[in-house]
Formats: sequence, C-alpha cells, structure tokens
Amino acid sequence: MSKTAMPYRRLGAAGIKVSALSLGGWTTFGASIDDVDVAARILRTAFEKGVNFFDIADVYAKGESEKQMGAVLRQLPRHELVISSKVYWPMSEDPNDQGLSRKHIIESVEKSLRRIGTDYLDVYFCHRFDENVRVEETARAMDDLIHHGKILYWGTSEWTGAQLRDVHAIADKRNLYAPVVEQPQYSLLARHKVEGDLLAQTRSLGMGLVVWSPLASGVLTGKYDDGVPAGSRLSRIDWLRESFLTEEKLAAVKKFGALAKDAGISRTQLALAWTLARPGVSSVIMGATSVPQLEENLGALDVKVSPELLQKLDALFA
Ligand SMILES: NC(=O)c1ccc[n+]([C@@H]2O[C@H](COP(=O)([O-])OP(=O)(O)OC[C@H]3O[C@@H](n4cnc5c(N)ncnc54)[C@H](OP(=O)(O)O)[C@@H]3O)[C@@H](O)[C@H]2O)c1
Repeated sequence: MSKTAMPYRRLGAAGIKVSALSLGGWTTFGASIDDVDVAARILRTAFEKGVNFFDIADVYAKGESEKQMGAVLRQLPRHELVISSKVYWPMSEDPNDQGLSRKHIIESVEKSLRRIGTDYLDVYFCHRFDENVRVEETARAMDDLIHHGKILYWGTSEWTGAQLRDVHAIADKRNLYAPVVEQPQYSLLARHKVEGDLLAQTRSLGMGLVVWSPLASGVLTGKYDDGVPAGSRLSRIDWLRESFLTEEKLAAVKKFGALAKDAGISRTQLALAWTLARPGVSSVIMGATSVPQLEENLGALDVKVSPELLQKLDALFA
C-alpha cells in the first residue's frame, strides 16, 4: 500500500502552512528522553517524513527542551521549519519572570531564541491567559516582536472564545497584529472545550487550531489497560495519572479498543486519525519517546475513518 504524503494546512487565514501532524517537546525532549542520540533520531525521522512544525515552550523541562530540540533543529534548513515556543509560566521565583507583561514577553523571547539557536520563532504562543495584565499590553508586545523580526506570528493556548474575541477587537481597533492560532487540548477524551466554545470563535476570527495531547498522554493507545507500564509517562507524572486513569476513562478506552479492532486499525492510529479529521484543525501535535512510536503515529495519515465508525466514536466519547 502506498503511503499518504504529509498534508500541509494553513494556520487559519494566515498564509503559513504547517504539517497536519507535528511534534512537540512536553515531558519528552530534555526530560524523559535523556539520550541526545534518541532525541536526534526522533526529530530527524519526523522531519524526513514531512513534519515541518515543531512545538516547544520555555517551561518544558525549564529550558532543556528548547536546548535539546534546538541542537537538532539547528542542523536542518531553517526555512523548511516552523518552530514555536511559548511564554507565560514562571521560569524562576522572580515576580517578573512569569506572565504576559511586556517585560516578561520581550525578555523571554530572547532567552528562547538563544536556547533554540535561531534568529526568529515562526509562532510565539501565550501559554495561558494572564488575568493580571491588560490584554492590550500583551498584544502590543507581540506586535512589536513581529515588527522587530523576532517572531513571525503569535498565538494563544487555552484561551476562551470570549478572550479571543476581545483580543481581536483590540488588535483591530489599535491596528496591531492579532493572534492567528489557538492551541487547545483536543482528543477523544477531551472534546468539550473545542467543540463547546472554541471552534465557532476561531473560525469566525480566521484562527487555526493546533491541538495537543491527541492520545491523552498515551491513554488512548491502550497501554494503560492493565496497569501502568514501567517508564511510561503516567508512571512518572502523578497528576496526569490521577486525572486520566479513572475507571470511567479506562472503560471507555477498552470499548474504543473493540471498535478499533473491528475496523482493523490500532487505537493509536484511530485516535490520531479522528483528531486529524476534525473541522478547524490545522495540526495535531504528537508526542513520542521513540522512533517506533513516532512511525506508528505517522501511519495515522493512511487511516480513513468511515462515517459509521465516526458515529460510534461520537456515542462512546460523547
Ligand atoms: N499548550 C499546552 O498547554 C500544551 C500542553 C501539553 C502538550 N502540548 C503540546 O502538545 C504536544 C503533544 O502532547 P502530548 O505529548 O501530551 O501528546 P500525546 O500524543 O497525547 O502523548 C504523547 C505520549 O504518549 C506516549 N505515546 C505516543 N505514541 C505512542 C505509541 N505509538 N505507543 C505507545 N505510547 C505512545 C508517549 O509517552 P511515553 O512513551 O512516555 O509513555 C508520548 O510521549 C506536546 O509535546 C506539546 O508540544 C501543549
């Protein structure tokens, strides 16, 4: 069977194109992947298979993720890459080393650029909404970074539809660059936010969605059906284990396994294919701790989900 080539999709109304499957560094690069050769193999394989979008954040492993991913990405042609980083979460105890103030944004981008080893970020995300800073201050700082060539676009992560409407209204009024992309959690196990609020707003504002944790940190692969495997993400991170390994979720994931088996598809690929096919999604950000995981996940591009199966998934994960 021939392999589906990587599709590239626009970030909403913005002209830039991102690979439909992208790769992120949360809890993996600079953290659970401590072997730099493994990190290099995963990143290079992703690039060779058509992934152009690599999603990082300053706070991932407190800068180590930017460093480990940057060391490999620096060896690839910069113009073929879409590199993002993020700002908001505290990087130290300094009261100004957090949030979305002008001071923190302008200082943070320089640190991220140095750690990654690049002159500009393609997309810079506000990693959450900051209740303590007027949104105009944040929008102006992002607009300045675009004018200074430090970033090409800016985006938001886990903002509400109302917050996105407000920042677009301010950007229109003040003639500032507005955010072009929102980054929410979205998977069969986490549908409410995107489908309840965000999608309608991002569509009307011309924003794209790049979505995170499409496998619910690995739970949708079925690897936690019979306990917590040693070395897996949920064996390492207590709060994720507590939030995902509930009886209700595990029961749904087992039923999901039966549906996937009937369709002759692995749970991993079906979960990713479902997310890839959702309206408004520009890119599905994967995580992987090995090349075989990455390769299995990329195989989701070859999966077509029938309308009958979609209906069953809707009923199971309502
Ligand atoms: N904006 C935000 O607030 C935010 C928050 C979270 C994530 N993100 C972004 O989204 C990216 C992806 O999120 P995520 O890592 O949570 O995605 P995910 O796809 O839900 O989980 C990835 C994890 O699942 C396991 N896994 C992946 N493929 C597998 C396979 N084929 N078989 C078995 N296990 C497999 C691996 O963990 P183990 O091997 O360690 O078990 C892997 O690290 C992040 O890197 C980050 O860039 C953003």
